[in-house]
Amino acid sequence: MYPDRPGEMRMTDARREAQRIFDTLASEYDRSGVDYFGPVGERLVALVKIGSGESVLDIGCGRGAVLFHAARAVGEHGRVVGVDLSTAMVEAVRKEARASEMPQVEAMVGEGQSPPFPEQSFDVVTGGMSVHMLADIPAALRAYHQVLRPRGRLGLSAPATVERPAPEVFGLRSIARFSAAHDAGSGIYPYTEAFGGARRLRGDLLAAGFEEVEVLEEPAFICTDSAERFLRWTWTHGMRKLWERVSPDERRRAERAITTEARARSERTDRIVLRTPVMYVTAVRPALHATAGPSDRDPA
Ligand SMILES: C[S@@+](CC[C@H](N)C(=O)[O-])C[C@H]1O[C@@H](n2cnc3c(N)ncnc32)[C@H](O)[C@@H]1O
Repeated sequence: MYPDRPGEMRMTDARREAQRIFDTLASEYDRSGVDYFGPVGERLVALVKIGSGESVLDIGCGRGAVLFHAARAVGEHGRVVGVDLSTAMVEAVRKEARASEMPQVEAMVGEGQSPPFPEQSFDVVTGGMSVHMLADIPAALRAYHQVLRPRGRLGLSAPATVERPAPEVFGLRSIARFSAAHDAGSGIYPYTEAFGGARRLRGDLLAAGFEEVEVLEEPAFICTDSAERFLRWTWTHGMRKLWERVSPDERRRAERAITTEARARSERTDRIVLRTPVMYVTAVRPALHATAGPSDRDPA
């Protein structure tokens, strides 16, 4: 989210709202029989090239769609710290890390925009489907630059909700239409391009001191066994906020439109497979002797 976006809630309200939504849905999030967040998390970990023994900070870790792939990549000699404002998400990650015997995983409740770590603490900062929701993205990028070591990498993903050739959300126009009509707002569910678009994000990353910025849009596939399960899934992530704004009458209409379109747009007839664009971004904090970023510059 950007501070100059019209109609934006005050940051504290937006934060409280995000906390409420994600605490409510934590038990079902990414555990309702629909593949989407996990494969996107795996792709992000591959793109940012996380290696054995590295230390990773995962912003807005949720149930660990990025974090657990990162934990496997760093191995037992590495360290992965997840930060999330939802206590329920953090508790779920801790529980799963214990059950999977992954001592390299830590999770803490905290504000993803200003992670509380000393400068140069991590080799990699990741943010899967989370950083586009923050109240002040340029400030968050500056904070990530600070906590990265020189040559440390940043990797972000977001639903690249696009307006070409027509507005679609999760591959469907019906969701986009309801989303626009109800102004889901506060960045939880972007209707226009994530991060204000690739060009704006690139500029913000360079201004924060990053280099080697790569912005990539790739299709991801939402896969599940039925349109009904797909519909249920839409209640288990940020889109729940939209459902809460739709009246019961309209909800039935929306459900019909969404399930009908999901069946029609599915790439397979025996199950639901929806193609949807995801934006992946990687960038590098320069070595200390390279071009100085804003935080390294002499104020004079
Ligand atoms: C869509 S989920 C993504 C979770 C996970 N990274 C994934 O890829 O599935 C967004 C997560 O960001 C968290 N979040 C939203 N705003 C946040 C903030 N200001 N600080 C920390 N976490 C935040 C939410 O609680 C939620 O768990």
